[in-house]
Amino acid sequence: MERLDVMDVLPVQLVNLRAKLGAYSRVQILHQDAAAMALSMARYDQAALVFLLHEQPLPIRSRTLAEARRVVRPGGKIVIVDHHAPRSWQPLRAPLGALLRMLAPYSLALWRHPIKISMPLQAQRCDIRWETFFGGMYQKLVLQRS
Ligand SMILES: C[S@@+](CC[C@H](N)C(=O)[O-])C[C@H]1O[C@@H](n2cnc3c(N)ncnc32)[C@H](O)[C@@H]1O
Repeated sequence: MERLDVMDVLPVQLVNLRAKLGAYSRVQILHQDAAAMALSMARYDQAALVFLLHEQPLPIRSRTLAEARRVVRPGGKIVIVDHHAPRSWQPLRAPLGALLRMLAPYSLALWRHPIKISMPLQAQRCDIRWETFFGGMYQKLVLQRS
């Protein structure tokens, strides 16, 4: 049977999620730090990091990516969705930049540096599919774990 584990470091987020899920039982909620998971290696077929990395300073981001790789089995998939630098013509570039500078300053590192450079070397060498959306505002990376 397919199962989904959802992890967050903030209990309040997990309380909200539990309320939204109701009686749906195939989701396990884990209160853990994504940069130091208390989980055995190669236990998942896939992992998704959804708007997580922009909250983390670079060294923690690298640890999170290494942990995601560790817990996904060889041949499994890692999907990352997060902020990206909007193109110069994107009308939301300036207001979004100002907002992120105030509320989520680490996200601006995602505007400047590709996520790939924070990955462990073995992951950097894999085939990575990378796309951006909405005039560059968001990015998605899909990599197959070697
Ligand atoms: C912008 S929210 C995105 C939440 C959710 N993925 C979504 O798309 O709705 C980022 C989440 O990452 C969580 N977070 C930040 N650092 C974390 C870490 N080291 N380990 C686990 N969760 C973390 C925050 O608590 C927050 O709930």
